[in-house]
Amino acid sequence: MEDKIAGAAKLERLAPSAAPEKPGNIIVATGRGGTGKSTFVALASRYLTPPLLLLDIDPDQSLADMLGVDLETTRIKTDIGREVKIKTVSDLTRDIVDEDAFMELGGGIPAVKIPLLLEWYTRYSSEKFTLISLGPRWTAGDYRAANYLFEFVIPSIGGDYANIIVDSPAGLEHLNRKVIPDMDDLFLVLDPSMKSMKHVARVRKITGEVGISYKHFYLVGNYEFDDEAEASLKRSGETYLGKMDYDARVKDYNLKGVSLLNLPDSSPACLSVRRILAEAGYKISLTSTA
Ligand SMILES: Nc1ncnc2c1ncn2[C@@H]1O[C@H](COP(=O)(O)OP(=O)(O)O)[C@@H](O)[C@H]1O
Ligand SMILES: [Mg+2]
Repeated sequence: MEDKIAGAAKLERLAPSAAPEKPGNIIVATGRGGTGKSTFVALASRYLTPPLLLLDIDPDQSLADMLGVDLETTRIKTDIGREVKIKTVSDLTRDIVDEDAFMELGGGIPAVKIPLLLEWYTRYSSEKFTLISLGPRWTAGDYRAANYLFEFVIPSIGGDYANIIVDSPAGLEHLNRKVIPDMDDLFLVLDPSMKSMKHVARVRKITGEVGISYKHFYLVGNYEFDDEAEASLKRSGETYLGKMDYDARVKDYNLKGVSLLNLPDSSPACLSVRRILAEAGYKISLTSTA
């Protein structure tokens, strides 16, 4: 079955008729643990031009909670109108490599079927965005499900979206593994510690070494930043876009599991995320009704 997938991935890449449409603008938020990546992505989702695809590649899956989406209870309709529980990309990968489960999903030629299965089973759609979660890996270090994202998900449906924003797990491993090899904008969310500057250098080094491409590399300060921390980033020689302001409601909503989509546009965190995106050249789309 491994061969089937590897073969399918290769076919997908080689078949000229399957030449993918250019995907939308790809934004990746990365950084150390607890800096505010998911909060940044959740709030950015309110202001980026739709149609918008959110990819949660953190096994923790906290982005869905921040958006008020309960993936455990979400049911979706397949192409033939069957109601099924939504799957993470990890769930679906498990089914695809299991001969019986794959047959139950209708079988077929993997190169053709895998993108369709991903489309049918893993997309949570709301008026504002589509959300796809990678889900937990089967075992540590197993990146087959993650590879599906760039082998199939982004090539097959990425062209349907103006913006694709990715929420990452903490740390550098996803970069090391080249989960998203081609990005437009890489946003690095930093906390005000000495380790942060080292982290900036490590991100630069790893992306260079493994060959991740990005058009822009942006630094964002988190809500703990003070003037001194901002000054040191401004001197860093990198592009510092600003910081996310402290917002007691963000903390409270995240604690209680209330959707960040309920925050008013005028709240400090929303205002600062809008400012940061505008600084990076994004046109702010104010469709948010909160
Ligand atoms: N602007 C902010 N104001 C107040 N608290 C924040 C803000 N941004 C994030 N937080 C808090 O920081 C913690 C980590 O945020 P989170 O977005 O989950 O980080 P990460 O995704 O990087 O792990 C959460 O408890 C969150 O509520
Ligand atoms: Mg997170």
